[in-house]
Amino acid sequence: MNKKFDQLQQLRDEAQLGGGKKKIESQHNKGKMTARERINLLVDNGSFQELDMFVKHRSSDFGLAKEKYLGDGAITGFARINNRPVAIYSQDFTVFGGSLSEAHAEKICKIMDSAMKMGIPIIGLNDSGGARIQEGVASLGGYAEIFLRNTLASGVVPQISAILGPCAGGAVYSPAITDFVFMADKTSHMFVTGPNVVKTVTHEEVTFEELGGAETHATKSGVAHFVEDNEVVMMQSIRKMFDFLPLNYLDKAPEKEFNFNTDLSVDALDKIIPENSSQPYDMHEVIKLCIDHDSFMEVHADYAQNIIVGFSRVGGMSVGVIANQPAVLAGVLDINASVKAARFIRFCDAFNIPLLVFEDVPGFMPGTDQEWNGIIRHGAKLLFAFCEATVPKVTVITRKAYGGAYDVMNSKHIRGDFNFAWPSAEIAVMGSKGAVEIIFKKDIKDAEDSDAMLNEKLTEYADKFANPYAAAERGFIDEVIYPRETRQRLINAYQLLKNKVDSNPRKKHSNIPL
Ligand code: HXC
Repeated sequence: MNKKFDQLQQLRDEAQLGGGKKKIESQHNKGKMTARERINLLVDNGSFQELDMFVKHRSSDFGLAKEKYLGDGAITGFARINNRPVAIYSQDFTVFGGSLSEAHAEKICKIMDSAMKMGIPIIGLNDSGGARIQEGVASLGGYAEIFLRNTLASGVVPQISAILGPCAGGAVYSPAITDFVFMADKTSHMFVTGPNVVKTVTHEEVTFEELGGAETHATKSGVAHFVEDNEVVMMQSIRKMFDFLPLNYLDKAPEKEFNFNTDLSVDALDKIIPENSSQPYDMHEVIKLCIDHDSFMEVHADYAQNIIVGFSRVGGMSVGVIANQPAVLAGVLDINASVKAARFIRFCDAFNIPLLVFEDVPGFMPGTDQEWNGIIRHGAKLLFAFCEATVPKVTVITRKAYGGAYDVMNSKHIRGDFNFAWPSAEIAVMGSKGAVEIIFKKDIKDAEDSDAMLNEKLTEYADKFANPYAAAERGFIDEVIYPRETRQRLINAYQLLKNKVDSNPRKKHSNIPL
């Protein structure tokens, strides 16, 4: 028997080496870890159970018959993160540059199929030169099989993609279908076509980094939700995010223990809103003071910063925060902010994570640039996402709630469960100046002293509408609260809503404006 055991050990040892020691060294020299090192950092110690370690490719073209590696460039299996199960694949760049062969794709599809049956999240660690060129259409078929599974798994189990090297061609579309994309700064790239093709087709000169580096995708395209300084930090960050998520759409997000017998009043909140209502303040401060200590994990932090989204805990419960940011573009809703928030809301709703909205919004962004690029279509995504969400939904209006943006940002009318307003709230069709100049146009023009008349009307309008009471009179605001009471109200709200049931009409699927 010993001989047979030896044979197994020998094969296992060989598989550990992937494409060999030299290739591993070259991977390290590029500042990158190997596929196995990444898994070890990501999962609980000793929890990884590998499948298909001895799979090899089946091609013989272009000399491939003589070049086979155990595992064929994909390490796949199951593990635990903070004691909760997860399916993982990790591409091994030391084997044909991590390129995707038919066999490599089959391994990934196998664990995806199992993860769907088990109802557990899927994490993909991508480091690949794309379709294995020598295999031709077989590898293209492999990608399509993965795309199909990504799509079918969407909304069933959370899917997270880590980009840890090149990600070229159609290969970018698997991560793009998944829920969250993490990129490593300077060592990861994503593009449909590389700089050489770009130069030939559009005559643009652009570097790898400018075209598809982490910073580009975090700030310009919005493809990357997170950029991490290095791979070690990224694995920690993925672990952190995992703790906010349920395993699947039928599961509830894990709850942390919380001591309700503490003083929940937060006096510092009373001092946040400036006297002058057009002065900015940082909504991060409000979020920080309302949620459980140090629990905010911002998503898309560098993209469309006029809206803030991210995971947090309130009274120990996992909650998705969506907040206008008055410190950037006065918190106006534009195309990018609408799309960013809509996608986050839909993720939370798909996975039973309650929503928490902090609202201070002057309206939608005006201008030809926004109109011609489709603010109507894209703004509608945000409206649609809030309307269709059936998870617990709570809104706190801290200051401005003007125009369509009042309706959109989880108003009572679109199924907000608890809608609070601070005394500083201004809820109206539009800001005082714009409104007065329209409805009192003639009076102002005909007045002996037009400026005096304008000021008189501004005061009249502000007295009537620059407050939360007209909305509260109609029950559109459930309660006007002192800012210091907010944390206590939120904790209560989510406890009350724990077993909330709401649903949408039966249908094949909705048709969100894309
Ligand atoms: C087979 C590949 C490969 C590929 C890299 N290798 N990409 N082998 N198929 N797609 C091999 C290289 O031959 C080399 O083998 C080893 O991996 C490392 O590659 P290097 O080029 O030495 O590494 P580096 O300089 O870091 O450059 C990495 C790279 C580059 C940027 C990924 O290799 C590259 O541009 N590859 C091609 C990318 C590409 O065009 N892929 C197809 C996209 S189309 P040796 O033996 O020399 O070490 C696509 C369609 C998807 O993916 C379909 C979905 C719709």
